Amino acid sequence: MLKIDRLDAFYGQSQALRGFTITVSPGEVLCLLGRNGAGKTTALKAIMGAVDRKVMGMELDGVDLAQLPAHQIAKRGVGYVPQGRRLFAELTVRENLEIGLMTRNTGQAAFERALSYFPVLTERMDQRSGTLSGGEQTMLAIARALCIEPKIIILDEPTEGLMPSMIGKIRDVVLKLRGEGVGVLLVEQRIDAVLPVADRIAFMDHGEVKAEFGIEDVRADTSILKKYLGIGH
Ligand SMILES: Nc1ncnc2c1ncn2[C@@H]1O[C@H](COP(=O)(O)OP(=O)(O)OP(=O)(O)O)[C@@H](O)[C@H]1O
Ligand SMILES: [Mg+2]
Repeated sequence: MLKIDRLDAFYGQSQALRGFTITVSPGEVLCLLGRNGAGKTTALKAIMGAVDRKVMGMELDGVDLAQLPAHQIAKRGVGYVPQGRRLFAELTVRENLEIGLMTRNTGQAAFERALSYFPVLTERMDQRSGTLSGGEQTMLAIARALCIEPKIIILDEPTEGLMPSMIGKIRDVVLKLRGEGVGVLLVEQRIDAVLPVADRIAFMDHGEVKAEFGIEDVRADTSILKKYLGIGH
């Protein structure tokens, strides 16, 4: 289980995350929802050690992550798919995946397993990733994260800008990972993208988790969405 206890993050003098506290269990999907600028990306970056942070406690399956340098977080089994994908555009599909493999010294089996989620990538192994379609780039970014055989995977708006059929594919992958016992921390803007996959929803605003609900509660009472996102569904 991933446990984050009172995580603060800072951009210079400005505090962008305040007391961010969540848990993600194996085989569970926790969705973080919130408006633009709520601090969702900052929360994920802070978990990965990519912004200046302070935290009371952070552990994965009893291993303390709080004291580890950024490059060690992925090594401990936290896969990260950043917003906008952040691939190495000049490198091929294969080379991008090899970077994932090197992160945690995982081997051929991890490589093949990651590709099994996205068979279309096997036809594109020697293509530069910058020339892939948007959907293919998203698949590659997720496959790269899967190459570390993550216990927890963190996805920052993976469906942003994708067409509905591709959104469905990403959703299926999330559900498959959940079924295999991977914990998923999923950031999305659009509620319709998360309702079918989420087990719990944490609503963020101004760098804080304002409230957390089980998915059944949100489905049963859509005024929750109005209250925390300001939308009328
Ligand atoms: N590199 C940075 N330097 C300074 N401030 C930043 C930086 N990145 C983000 N911020 C600020 O931190 C706050 C949270 O931003 P963040 O990107 O985490 O929001 P978000 O919830 O991911 O938004 P979106 O839905 O638009 O992706 C915003 O006020 C933003 O302007
Ligand atoms: Mg963001």
